[in-house]
Amino acid sequence: MILSSSRVLAPHLRAKIMTAADAAAQIPSGAHVGMSGFTGAGYPKLLPLALAERINAHHARGQKFKVSVWTGASTAPELDGALAKVDGIEMRLPYQSDPTCRKRINSGRMEYIDIHLSHVAQHVWFGFLGKLDIAIVEVAGIREDGSLIPSSSIGNNKTWLDLADKVILEVNSWQDIRLEGMHDVYYGTQLPPHRKPIPIVASGDRIGEQYLRCDPSKIVAIVETNLPDRNSAFSAPDEASQAIAGHILEFLGHEVKKGRLPPNLLPLQSGVGNVANAVMAGLEDGPFDNLTAYTEVLQDGMLHLLRKGKLTHASATALSLSPDGYDEFLRNLDFYRERIVLRPQEISNHPEVIRRLGVIAMNGLIEADIYGNVNSTHITGTSIMNGIGGSGDFARNSFLSFFMTPSAAKGGKISCIVPMASHVDHTEHDVQVIVTEQGLADLRGLSPKARAKVIIENCAHPTFKPALKEYYKRALEYSPGLHTPHILDEALTFLPNWMANKAAREAWREDAVVQADVWR
Ligand code: COA
Repeated sequence: MILSSSRVLAPHLRAKIMTAADAAAQIPSGAHVGMSGFTGAGYPKLLPLALAERINAHHARGQKFKVSVWTGASTAPELDGALAKVDGIEMRLPYQSDPTCRKRINSGRMEYIDIHLSHVAQHVWFGFLGKLDIAIVEVAGIREDGSLIPSSSIGNNKTWLDLADKVILEVNSWQDIRLEGMHDVYYGTQLPPHRKPIPIVASGDRIGEQYLRCDPSKIVAIVETNLPDRNSAFSAPDEASQAIAGHILEFLGHEVKKGRLPPNLLPLQSGVGNVANAVMAGLEDGPFDNLTAYTEVLQDGMLHLLRKGKLTHASATALSLSPDGYDEFLRNLDFYRERIVLRPQEISNHPEVIRRLGVIAMNGLIEADIYGNVNSTHITGTSIMNGIGGSGDFARNSFLSFFMTPSAAKGGKISCIVPMASHVDHTEHDVQVIVTEQGLADLRGLSPKARAKVIIENCAHPTFKPALKEYYKRALEYSPGLHTPHILDEALTFLPNWMANKAAREAWREDAVVQADVWR
């Protein structure tokens, strides 16, 4: 049935409109499926649920049915949660933050590859991940000529549509049609050795097209929906987040005074979550004007900065707004469309552009060690939390890279500053500034030993500071003169972290698959 308000305007595609169940019936077990979706925005809403039902029915008949799910980044319970609950995911990549997925991954029931978000397109183009069988992509509409109006995120959609054998489109009329014109889809990328410079020299530059292209002969189904994005609320900035934001703003002011940053700073990248949002809130009342952003995800904080005129424009690959933020966005969509550009994630996170623009990167961490190595992804070095996301794309290539965290986790039981990081995502070479509510450590120009002193002194929680100092002092004695002093048989057993994190790790093991002998 075609809705009277249908946004499928291409006459040659209307015959492909069908129910989600009929569309899902075209997905076989074992398929590699590229789905749209980035930080809870622009993901397909009906297809994954219909696929989960199909998988469940097969399992009930005793038949194996799993697919591999590739996305832009994290999605929502209707996608990751629904498919993980029915044990329908063989392999997940490149990023997730879903509790059910996390549990399955950490109990050996789901494979996961954690990839820099800017690398995904290249990996798929070269076939490192195997053949992409099916793309399932949410769009805001299909134009008469068959071009696609992208939704609230672009992520890897261009890559999925270009490379998949078959395409299923979800046309979601909940997405405001005035999104049209906000996107910039660049079709100039090539594979080496034919690559040309990406011609972005300012964060607001438009270098591509407003629409996604799709070969109509690949479209096997179109499903019409009217369902909202995840849009979860942010908590009001707590004391620790406000203190972290305060330290960062003071530091940026200092850098401007020293002439190392211009008065309107450099393009900002802000990671996901409440701390990142609090930093943006701090900038609202801060002294900096005419700011710009070259980031991955646009949260409420940046929306407010745009509205207040503090931020002149922002480039991202996805919107990730709270319900209030979304209402504000809709009320003033024409205003925001002039100032926001949504790009494919291989461009929003492109190392060349990030380096050229001199981005200021701000991302969260799980633990940092006293020499400045950062773990963003693993509890006790073994259990995945979410994934590296875009943090590596930005930290490695930015002009200034901040990592921020409360100094202690789990109600103060666990120190986020440790002697040796139990897993390293960002090495000491890519981490320039560490910030906790206790203070800020500027690591630029410091040797490992000088870094250890400033990180412990400025960033550690008072509960753990004496033990960290004591460890470092004994490490110096134990390995006199060495470049990076450690007591290796103690470095990873920093009490009480070890015990507290061990308990967390044990919790994942409830229903774990025991792989005692992988070679068998
Ligand atoms: N040991 C054990 N648990 C820890 C911990 C530690 N050292 N540090 C943090 N945690 C736990 C917190 O207790 C919290 O758990 P809960 O959800 O059960 O309450 C969880 O990790 C998240 O920590 P929180 O302090 O709320 O910070 P956050 O929401 O800012 O998340 C990261 C921090 C590192 C998990 C998050 O920023 C992330 O996934 N980063 C990697 C991807 C990224 O940077 N993306 C942005 C790039 S654009």
